Amino acid sequence: MNRDIKYLELYNQIKAVIDPEADDIANMANIAQLLSQTLDHHWTGFYRVVKKELVLGPFVGPVACTRIPFGKGVCGVAWETKHTQIVANVHKFHGHIACSPHSQSEIVVPCMRQGKVFAVLDIDSDALDTFDDLDARYLEDIVALL
Ligand code: SME
Repeated sequence: MNRDIKYLELYNQIKAVIDPEADDIANMANIAQLLSQTLDHHWTGFYRVVKKELVLGPFVGPVACTRIPFGKGVCGVAWETKHTQIVANVHKFHGHIACSPHSQSEIVVPCMRQGKVFAVLDIDSDALDTFDDLDARYLEDIVALL
């Protein structure tokens, strides 16, 4: 299936599921599951900003590290810069935090409210160079539903 169509269907499906619910954690849990079952990457989940750290939130995949400091790892850089990070090869990203030996490439999308990051969406792939601007665009639209 064309990637645009796949993402548009996913967007509509996620919107329908989370629209009636106001709780962020419940919505993150359903988003992680829907993204994981459709895109089928190695790890899909959220880290939430709690005080001065990112703390592991709802996810689908192997056990992951629970806390990430501001500016550290791909997730911490997405938080600090407020910009989506696309990493084609995690082994070449200075400061990458390896939660799983299988992760090869990664995308991290900041979730923003009133100009502040309140969480990040992190997706890890077990293949190199998996994510591009199209993923970034649709995933940014999806987290904006929160
Ligand atoms: N690789 C991330 C850490 C989170 S795990 O991939 C689930 C990072 O460098 O921030």
